[in-house]
Amino acid sequence: MKFTIAFIGFGTVGQGLAEILADRGKWLREEYGFEYSVVAVSDSIKGSVCDPGGLDLPHLLSLVKEKGSINDYPQGDKGWDSLKTIRQSPANTVVEVTYTDLRTGEPALTHIRTALSLGKHVVTSNKGPAALAYRELRDLARQKGVFFKFEGAVMSGTPLLNLALNHLEGARISEVRGILNGTTNFILTQMEKGLSYEEALAEAQRLGYAEAKPDADVEGWDAVAKVLILANLLMNTQLKVEEVSREGITNITPAHIQEAMRKKCRWKLIGSLRREGSQVRAKVAPEKIPLDDILAGVGGITNALTFSTDLLGKVTIVGPGAGRKETGFALLSDLLEISRSVS
Ligand code: HSE
Repeated sequence: MKFTIAFIGFGTVGQGLAEILADRGKWLREEYGFEYSVVAVSDSIKGSVCDPGGLDLPHLLSLVKEKGSINDYPQGDKGWDSLKTIRQSPANTVVEVTYTDLRTGEPALTHIRTALSLGKHVVTSNKGPAALAYRELRDLARQKGVFFKFEGAVMSGTPLLNLALNHLEGARISEVRGILNGTTNFILTQMEKGLSYEEALAEAQRLGYAEAKPDADVEGWDAVAKVLILANLLMNTQLKVEEVSREGITNITPAHIQEAMRKKCRWKLIGSLRREGSQVRAKVAPEKIPLDDILAGVGGITNALTFSTDLLGKVTIVGPGAGRKETGFALLSDLLEISRSVS
């Protein structure tokens, strides 16, 4: 199968995937038989272009870098909004990388519903749809014989969802617990080194880790979205946002950090899901973790998640939790998996 791809959204993550494709497209074809052409890009701020003959990614990337817009691209149809691009471009695969809205899931939810309804594969790192409407979208994808993949929604390119879904099958997972937000872990680590909260947050934003509205990170909403996705996938339960108990890191002061360090502990924002009888308890909150706990050693943008299983005991996966190329890689890994499955 040759992938004809439409990017819906062309911010940090979309450009991250575009850079990877531009850099190693030839190698991906030779090594994995992965054939692709990007036929459309639509971004509400940077503009849009559709050319069934295929777009020149290095050219698009340099336009965004130099002008912040792709409207000067020399060929193709311009000015299509996201839904027109999904409906009318010849893409068989939609890469949905707009911002996450955990209240409604929009606009990503409508983008993904529309694409799947039209029989197009969807890969996304957007957390809203997988957190709020996983079953509906999974069933729609199955009905249409296409894929809905979102490895990058939790722990960026670290293959957490693939690990849990493909390699822990047959074991019962009683609890998952870990560091699920890179920005807050980065801020807490930087504060341990003496930076102020504001300096550390500004650095996380500069590096492209933080959400469009960083309240989503520091108030714990981003981790809540990831906990909901894990509940959907691993515990077969559809929790609502308000069923996850939530506290962010905004009340953690340098004094708290110093006091924890004196007690050989570190503050971490921990997301967890635990089976209690027929119920699943879900929580996001800062916790003071002793230094000999594996999670205490996970610093900066790195995330980690421990699965408690009946057959294997505890299994922990550690890796990048955010970032341009790291999340771009997650999208690539989903595309490659679809490529393997359909060929
Ligand atoms: N803002 C998120 C984080 C991005 O810092 O973890 C990845 O989901």
